[in-house]
Amino acid sequence: MTGDTTTRGGQMHARTTMDAVVLERFGGPDELRYVEGIPAPTLPSGHVLIEVLAAGVNPVDARTRRGEGVARSVGAPPLVLGWDVAGIVRQRGYGARLEEGDLVMGMLAFPLRAGCYATLVIGRARELARVPDGLPPSVAAGLPLAGLTALQALREDAKLRAGQRVGIVGAGGVVGQLATQLARLAGAEVVAVARPHHHARLRELGAAEVLAPGSLAAALAGELHGALDVVVELTGGPLGTLALAGLAAGGTALWLAADATEEERHLAAELEARLVEPDGAGVAELAALVCEGRLRIPLAGELPLAQAAEAHRRLEAGTARGKLVLVPTPAGP
Ligand SMILES: NC(=O)c1ccc[n+]([C@@H]2O[C@H](COP(=O)([O-])OP(=O)(O)OC[C@H]3O[C@@H](n4cnc5c(N)ncnc54)[C@H](OP(=O)(O)O)[C@@H]3O)[C@@H](O)[C@H]2O)c1
Repeated sequence: MTGDTTTRGGQMHARTTMDAVVLERFGGPDELRYVEGIPAPTLPSGHVLIEVLAAGVNPVDARTRRGEGVARSVGAPPLVLGWDVAGIVRQRGYGARLEEGDLVMGMLAFPLRAGCYATLVIGRARELARVPDGLPPSVAAGLPLAGLTALQALREDAKLRAGQRVGIVGAGGVVGQLATQLARLAGAEVVAVARPHHHARLRELGAAEVLAPGSLAAALAGELHGALDVVVELTGGPLGTLALAGLAAGGTALWLAADATEEERHLAAELEARLVEPDGAGVAELAALVCEGRLRIPLAGELPLAQAAEAHRRLEAGTARGKLVLVPTPAGP
């Protein structure tokens, strides 16, 4: 990263270059190209320029790369993917409520363009939280999008209360594991549906009942029939449709991996597809829980930013097993 700034009419103009993973056109992982020395975005009022220490990789990144996901919201390539960031505030736009040198984390601008797969990115103070002492950047960058998804679904959409029962379908993934823990912290009882290799972990995280996909139908025909106050769907497949038999009358079903089908809407009156929204205060709350040891995020590891294509291959092959984080190579002296 190189650069300097000028101030004109109250607006700060960043004159910098950055390295970034550029998506030249929608398609496979090989369309992600690491490019050095491209112009950094200019810094609007109320925003800060962040030096990226780590950028989280989410399933929506890969979908958007393929021209699906939120491709319509980000617009036509060339573009830089990535919404999750941890980094250092290097410049402050006019009126921004953060200081240069602040270590920050957040989910930026989603579902519009953000561009966290880069060495520099622009964010709004309200989307960001200060990284608590002791939280490594790679953990901080892995948390926002997945954590906010779980938090907003359970608290704001489902209004989950202590004593309620929540079914989490696809509970073994990053959002599912976070949702399992947040539901437990809210005093709810979790019925987790996940493949068997996730069961021990989900029990450890507090799930009261853990079901393999193949056992769900039998459970729904028995004690689970109409017994769930909330169903959270994270697989985008037919398992969610099946789980609706567990929804209690007046219960809430939240479809997070894909929009609901006509059949599913017919099966449950209170069924909504939901998209996560940026929220710095929510990120701060999640980060505090992690620091207190009350929330654990499954981390798959770090890769250099230049290997974003490899991160997408692992994500799409299902071999990542947790949250992957991209880390720029530190600038030389
Ligand atoms: N609406 C929103 O705003 C929003 C925000 C964040 C994420 N999402 C979506 O939510 C989903 C989960 O996100 P994530 O980050 O948690 O992804 P993830 O870590 O890849 O987790 C997905 C999980 O779904 C499980 N799964 C898929 N099909 C399954 C099946 N038939 N039976 C049992 N388990 C199944 C996978 O199981 P295995 O591990 O066994 O393969 C995996 O554990 C993704 O589709 C993502 O795009 C939506």
